[in-house]
Amino acid sequence: MPKLNILVGTMYGGAIDVAEQVKPQFEDAGYTVAILEQPSVADITGDADLVLFCVSTTGSGDFPGNFVPFVRSLREQSPSLTSLRYGLIALGDSSYGDTFCGAGRALDALLEDHGATRLGERLEVDAMETFMADDAAIPWVEEWIAGQQLKVA
Ligand SMILES: Cc1cc2nc3c(=O)[nH]c(=O)nc-3n(C[C@H](O)[C@H](O)[C@H](O)COP(=O)(O)O)c2cc1C
Repeated sequence: MPKLNILVGTMYGGAIDVAEQVKPQFEDAGYTVAILEQPSVADITGDADLVLFCVSTTGSGDFPGNFVPFVRSLREQSPSLTSLRYGLIALGDSSYGDTFCGAGRALDALLEDHGATRLGERLEVDAMETFMADDAAIPWVEEWIAGQQLKVA
């Protein structure tokens, strides 16, 4: 079975909820799914066929604490990511203005800089509009799997 790694960056657990809620959708589509709450660079350079990031923003456009070591290692190691195909769900709150989904957007730019290919558009979930991020993430994942032809089973 192909393998999907879901890398989570979270302060308060919302992004973990999203990862757990969408996991069965990928299992139904034929993937073995791992949710990684302390991600490392090896999780995106190894044998995963597909990667999904679920990353919230804290501070003033900053990465959540559990995700900081991953980003630091990515910048230090600067691996080629040309074989990485990924999707990105960013959680944020538009009341923070310019830093809305800042972590998700910065991650997207960093991955692109390293040659990775994002499949489809980034989902940005605005806590001002969507109380439960899952409500936005589940339909988005359904459409993502269908639109990017990711179903393998
Ligand atoms: C102290 C604090 C700072 C935040 N800073 C930002 C920010 O700069 N930009 C943004 O879009 N959202 C910001 N948020 C909103 C969170 O990203 C949003 O509530 C998200 O859903 C939290 O997800 P989590 O439960 O996975 O941590 C902030 C929230 C808190 C509590």
